[in-house]
Amino acid sequence: MEVKIQTGEITTTAAEAVVLFHFEGDVNLLHATATVNTITGSIVSRVIEAGDFRGEHLENMILFTKGSAPIERILLIGLGKKENFTAQTLREAMAQALKTLRDRRQPRAVLPIPFDPEFPLDMEESAETCVLGGILGLYQFTELLTRDREKIKDFHLLTIVSGRKTKPLARGVDRAKAVAAGIHLARDLVTLPSNQATPAFLAKRARDVAAQAGMGFKLIREPEAKKLGMGAFLAVAQGSEEPGLIAVMDYQPSKKKSPPVILVGKGITFDSGGISIKPAKDMDKMKHDMAGSAAVIGTMQTIAALSLPVRVVAIIPFTENLPSGKAYKPGDVIRSLSGLTIEVINTDAEGRMILADALTYAGRYKPQAIIDLATLTGACIVALGDNVAGLFSNDDQLQTRLQAAAEESGERVWPLPLWDSYLESMKSDVADLKNVDGRKAGAITAAIFLKQFVPQSTPWAHLDIAGCAWEDKGSALVPKGASGMGVHLLVRLLQSWKPLDEGHK
Ligand code: BES
Ligand code: MN
Ligand code: ZN
Repeated sequence: MEVKIQTGEITTTAAEAVVLFHFEGDVNLLHATATVNTITGSIVSRVIEAGDFRGEHLENMILFTKGSAPIERILLIGLGKKENFTAQTLREAMAQALKTLRDRRQPRAVLPIPFDPEFPLDMEESAETCVLGGILGLYQFTELLTRDREKIKDFHLLTIVSGRKTKPLARGVDRAKAVAAGIHLARDLVTLPSNQATPAFLAKRARDVAAQAGMGFKLIREPEAKKLGMGAFLAVAQGSEEPGLIAVMDYQPSKKKSPPVILVGKGITFDSGGISIKPAKDMDKMKHDMAGSAAVIGTMQTIAALSLPVRVVAIIPFTENLPSGKAYKPGDVIRSLSGLTIEVINTDAEGRMILADALTYAGRYKPQAIIDLATLTGACIVALGDNVAGLFSNDDQLQTRLQAAAEESGERVWPLPLWDSYLESMKSDVADLKNVDGRKAGAITAAIFLKQFVPQSTPWAHLDIAGCAWEDKGSALVPKGASGMGVHLLVRLLQSWKPLDEGHK
């Protein structure tokens, strides 16, 4: 979708369609809605007064102006009750609006901003929110379809019309485009099947993003990983014919090297479970077990596009988890990069194995903070459902910031505990740790396992995105499939990044 900004009055703008909003139960129309209502013989207020249109969230109705105005049709969208309004309400409403138009093969529309002098968001926020919501809702992955391509519907052009200065609008639009591009990159990478999105393919995509933004980049290949002593990562990689790779992207906004924030993403390009093989049902979905890595790559692209003033390093281990004659096996004892030995109880707990070494490796950068994203446990889905990420942190301030960022981005995170008492059950008779305890508190014990590999006294947070990385049904902002979970959240977090207070807990 292309976005244009045009100075002018909505009353004199010729357009095929205009998008207008209305709050449920509001006795007044929003100013922009009222303006169009006046020149079109009150067709908007009439459907509201008659009770045909109530303004419930995502309710939508198309009205033809029948030549009364240079605008041919009005798409009226409900915002729900005013007291429940957040930016997410508007993102979803705009997604709904543009999808409605696309489905009716109406590929162009205008949008007047500001909506109203009293509107809860200013012009810049309104533009950003609408454009981001619109683009996210319109996402479709059609790359691999070869038949009936002419039937694919698209929405082409949104023109924001404003009688006021357009600088803030342009800022909002640019930011939305940068965030949406990062989310869509993540969605594309997650959607691509594992025969295409191999470790080598994803590492190359990471390299391309780094090169385009002038970031530092390096690849740790298996021989080097071996030299370093990354036994936990290599144990998982050894079962696959595709060589495992660790990509390191280094976004450094100023010449002076400062301690980075480190992002770690789980990049299992296919998780069969390994020797502890998964059931066939839904195994195809395990192509999305690299969603953490995709979110990290998308985030890196966006923060560079926004020129954020904080150094961010991404450490992304990529490998498949497959059974083979060379695969690691239950009972094997592995020496990790940290020196801790791990008894493999279940080869399907592979995510924590590769993350363990990535977290230890992160310590070399003396980071201000480490945040990892991983489709780590089915248990997290049992605990929190499909749309919520489990949030674990050893630092209250970092946790609070992540919660605030999620509040803004409209993604959902919920804190779970990291008490040391959970560690007891992770102890092995033959090694320092088992990679799995029983079924109880599975998301927490996985996080407790990771915590053992976090460099001493480094603020760290872990997001278990097993449930929310993939949308089974589809929602206003997330068409069925890959969600891009984490990108918007991390961008919001890093956008306002300040050093954390010392002495975290
Ligand atoms: N990648 C899976 C977790 C997962 C499950 C992600 C469903 C997305 C949707 C992970 O590697 C895994 O297999 N976890 C096991 C851990 C168990 C062996 C302790 C699980 O959750 O069953
Ligand atoms: Mn697994
Ligand atoms: Zn996995």
